[in-house]
Amino acid sequence: MSQYIEEAGPEATRREADETESSRASRGWWDRNADEYQSEHGAFLGDERFVWGPEGLDEADAELLGPRESLKGLDVLEIGAGAAQCSRWLAEQGARPVALDLSHRQLQHALRIGDGLPLVEADATALPFRDGSFDLACSAYGAVPFVADPVTVFAEVHRVLRPGGRWVFSVTHPVRWAFPDEPGPEGLSVSGSYFDRTPYVEQDERGRAVYVEHHRTVGDRVRDVVAGGFRLVDLVEPEWPAWNSQEWGGWSPLRGNLIPGTAIFVCVRD
Ligand SMILES: C[S@@+](CC[C@H](N)C(=O)[O-])C[C@H]1O[C@@H](n2cnc3c(N)ncnc32)[C@H](O)[C@@H]1O
Repeated sequence: MSQYIEEAGPEATRREADETESSRASRGWWDRNADEYQSEHGAFLGDERFVWGPEGLDEADAELLGPRESLKGLDVLEIGAGAAQCSRWLAEQGARPVALDLSHRQLQHALRIGDGLPLVEADATALPFRDGSFDLACSAYGAVPFVADPVTVFAEVHRVLRPGGRWVFSVTHPVRWAFPDEPGPEGLSVSGSYFDRTPYVEQDERGRAVYVEHHRTVGDRVRDVVAGGFRLVDLVEPEWPAWNSQEWGGWSPLRGNLIPGTAIFVCVRD
């Protein structure tokens, strides 16, 4: 199911979905569900906090983009920024973030929380920036899980980054594909093949996709990063911390203590 908000109506299935259909579905889904998403998760995300995923790993502690003090003055692109909470934290550190998202409604929430940040409404597969415009790029669950061809995104990020720049992104941990997306004990038994890359699609009565998620195995993700021109320097699997008692869709303390929920890829553009 769409793991961010429970939604009744569309039929859930597994079938191919190309880039155009995936992009259209994502834009529509996030525009329709942004209000509910922000009201459900906004408090956890914080207005000026950089959280990598439902485990609550904070960039302030993890420093995956580099030491906090080194962010000052850097041009940073946040991809799939939603309401731009991470960009707001980056601005607090003295960086110059640009928050990009496909969804107009998500960016309206960014404006609601506070103006002043550059916001760009665009698809991550075609970044509207000149080559070498940024020192860093980041994405907390934005865009990458929803695109049919992540290599296109990675190649675009590579193009707009300056040499030496980091590209750090988080996605649902691939191992979860094999389990039901449920927070309780039913989410602990394998129900499908980890190796089946057929996208998860919710479609309307006319068969049009209204939500799409694309699965890549860990090996696929590594190959995609390399094909996009990057060097992988770390793969972080945050453990569920004792302080975090919240459930977020299929993420929960029960499952989080047993299987990984998030994978964070730390890449460098040489
Ligand atoms: C799970 S939210 C993550 C946003 C934010 N990091 C957060 O944690 O709330 C995913 C975001 O990715 C955006 N997105 C999905 N596909 C995209 C694409 N192809 N290009 C740009 N943004 C996209 C959605 O509009 C949505 O705002």
